[in-house]
Amino acid sequence: MSTIRTRVAIIGAGPAGLFLSHLLHRAGIESVVVDARSRDAVENTIRAGILEHGTVDALVESGASTRVLTEGLRHDGIELRVDGEGHRIDFADLVGRSVFLYPQHEVLRDLIATRLAEGQDLRFEVTALRIEEPDSATPRVVVHDTTGVEQVIEADFVVGADGSHSVARAALSGARSGYFREYPFAWFGILCEAPPSAPELIYSTSPGGFALISQRSASVQRMYFQCDPAVDPASLSEERIWAELRSRVPGADLIEGPIFQRDVLRFRSFVAHDLRRGRVALVGDAAHTVPPTGAKGMNLAIADVLILERALRALLLENDPRLIDDYAETVLRRIWKAQHFSWWMTSMLHVAPDATEFDRLRRLGELRSVVESRAGRTYLAEAYTGWPLTD
Ligand code: PHB
Repeated sequence: MSTIRTRVAIIGAGPAGLFLSHLLHRAGIESVVVDARSRDAVENTIRAGILEHGTVDALVESGASTRVLTEGLRHDGIELRVDGEGHRIDFADLVGRSVFLYPQHEVLRDLIATRLAEGQDLRFEVTALRIEEPDSATPRVVVHDTTGVEQVIEADFVVGADGSHSVARAALSGARSGYFREYPFAWFGILCEAPPSAPELIYSTSPGGFALISQRSASVQRMYFQCDPAVDPASLSEERIWAELRSRVPGADLIEGPIFQRDVLRFRSFVAHDLRRGRVALVGDAAHTVPPTGAKGMNLAIADVLILERALRALLLENDPRLIDDYAETVLRRIWKAQHFSWWMTSMLHVAPDATEFDRLRRLGELRSVVESRAGRTYLAEAYTGWPLTD
């Protein structure tokens, strides 16, 4: 078995893994990134689209993406629609911050282009099988390529940025070990060819359930409606999909167009029990999963990476382990705030299949206490646009 030697071995070429490798490179720390998927699959899988203010700053300041400023769309607020009545949450007025609509695959394209232009060792279609010796000074990742040839990557540190089905997690407390919650509903998501139906995102709750009217570009829109997790995405006709969306966003004029992609997104909340062991750490979805209602997934991954990169610089350049020893505790503070926010937005906006009349009326009371109060709107705006990233 041949051995590749590097300082940091990163499993996963998603936003977390690529951004970490970019920051390390700038600090003079060499890394190798492997991902089981092809470059094409990484760059073309449709994911979420909202970047917090601080995420955008981090991408721009580090030189990872300037396109986010030219191609991304700044959104100064969202609309919360309650039974047909729209309420604007004005982020700019409430907290002086905004978010950017810039799809995750665009972030990935920028990061991959930057990594390759800088001659970074980035290997697609290379699958990590396991991590060995996590507690030693030279942990190893055993990988194989598409031909099945095994190789070992020996490093000073290994990072699991390999998503919710993480292989790296097994080297910590075990692949399934964590705090977990599943929700009794999912999102039916579509991409369609149409102009935006509204200037800002609409989060709408109605007796029939939840819908989100999001955007991708001037000519492509992303929309979701609450559905049963068992629904087969192919089973609904286009007419039925539009009827579901219209009924969940009463009073809004949705602009319809040909639907060219559809999927069903399961809702899960997860936090791994252990985020670091010895010289192995987890970031992004490998460490935690949030339901998409709060738009926190990619933002949380970037926040983890900023903290881990600083800790790795201290460890690998100055032989100072204090920040890495605190890594889990530091990132968990933000992770649990984001878990709470994502759970809260989800439970406040969706209709649970077993909801009683009490539950329905209480939820309306909760929504009113948010939209009718500046303090309520401010909490939502602060969490949605993102808590400060660095101290
Ligand atoms: C999306 O555009 O895909 C999107 C936006 C906001 C969310 C979730 C998904 O909360």
